[in-house]
Amino acid sequence: KPNRDLEGKKILVTAGPTKESIDPVRFITNHSTGKMGYSIVEAARDRGAEVTLVSGPTNICPPAGVEVIKVETTLDMYEAVMNSYADKDIIIKSAAVADYRPETVSKSKIKKSEGNLTLTLVRNPDILRTLGELKGDRILVGFAAESDHVLENAKAKIVKKNLDFIVANDITEDGAGFGVDTNIVHLIDKNGEIEKIDQSTKLEIAHRILDKVKKFEK
Ligand code: C5P
Repeated sequence: KPNRDLEGKKILVTAGPTKESIDPVRFITNHSTGKMGYSIVEAARDRGAEVTLVSGPTNICPPAGVEVIKVETTLDMYEAVMNSYADKDIIIKSAAVADYRPETVSKSKIKKSEGNLTLTLVRNPDILRTLGELKGDRILVGFAAESDHVLENAKAKIVKKNLDFIVANDITEDGAGFGVDTNIVHLIDKNGEIEKIDQSTKLEIAHRILDKVKKFEK
């Protein structure tokens, strides 16, 4: 019998990369495929939650039966999240958000010249940090993809962004991180509890994340 332990809960999940245009031809993005976030969406739906997915550009099909808001840039994602977070019980921010965007988007294609080209990048808003300031009773979960000092950096983010817990992965490990179907993560919570999940499918990890969410319900 399927576990419907999230029935009646409203969940917002962000997934995928964001994409920041430089000119009509070029953009800046990252290696996120959205697989981890889409697996969370699928798992939450199967457990009875009402799911809203805010997704950056990906090649995967969103699971049926969820509300999908497609975005491109970090500013788009910020706006979509701010418009939909208020009535949510649980927010899981798995998107790999671009921290910077080009200061200006050139209307015409930038021509090459002999010398170097310098792009000025400006900071994007930190969506998760903003959510942390507006947290209320919501359960707030972040992700941390790191290549160095994984646990240390993840713990600092729990505090800075006011999270209940964070899903930390070392993107340099085989079988973890971008594009692959499996992941190896630590769930680290605000009480200092650390749970290691050995290499598992992203769907299995999604269920473990939701099991942990259940522990923070009031
Ligand atoms: O600080 P860092 O980018 O490593 O934190 C990752 C977490 O913060 C992820 O959950 C990501 O979705 C979120 N984030 C965000 N807005 C940003 C940068 C990261 O929501 N501008």
